[in-house]
Amino acid sequence: MASESVGQARLLGSALQRTVRQLCPRSLAVFGVAGGNGLELVERATVRRVVALDFNPDYLALCTRRHATSFDRFEPVLHDLSQGPPAIAPVECIFAGLVLEYLCVESFCGYLAALLTPGGTCTFLLQLPSATVSVVSPSPFTSITRLTAVFSFVHQTALNDILVARGFSCILSDRYDLDSGKSFYYATYQLT
Ligand SMILES: C[S@@+](CC[C@H](N)C(=O)[O-])C[C@H]1O[C@@H](n2cnc3c(N)ncnc32)[C@H](O)[C@@H]1O
Repeated sequence: MASESVGQARLLGSALQRTVRQLCPRSLAVFGVAGGNGLELVERATVRRVVALDFNPDYLALCTRRHATSFDRFEPVLHDLSQGPPAIAPVECIFAGLVLEYLCVESFCGYLAALLTPGGTCTFLLQLPSATVSVVSPSPFTSITRLTAVFSFVHQTALNDILVARGFSCILSDRYDLDSGKSFYYATYQLT
């Protein structure tokens, strides 16, 4: 069970690293950042400004302790994305790894463009349904376990339709399969 959450954390880290290597953003926001989502793998020579956002103050404090000194500008933002857009200056890239499942997708996509610079991108990592594994990996943090109650799968076609209607286009998509049996959909959308 521990290896399941480790595998998921590794996946988040490599997905974030892949996103930054491919897009080379100077400003990056990580939504649902928890302890960092792999920020230690992000090149500070590329990314000058990081917005780390979570609605859990304990995670945000941990993330700040770990990463605040690693970037020229590090902005911890305590915010509940279900309550509307955060008050941040637009960024070139948003990474939303395993957080959309806890939000109203329509509402989130409704304000997403306003958080991005022209031509900006948003990368999503979504958990795919499985007949055999639980939705949320076992975690030492009880607040994560409690999240199970509000988790709902996001259908990739429905997400695509909503984003295309909002002026985004998909520039990359992929699938990850972990040894635990869980599978994930990875996609980057660009504001056109
Ligand atoms: C299941 S975790 C995803 C994996 C997590 N990023 C990690 O590294 O373990 C979801 C993350 O999103 C955050 N989150 C969930 N709902 C949120 C919301 N409405 N606004 C902001 N953050 C939220 C949680 O606090 C948690 O850190």
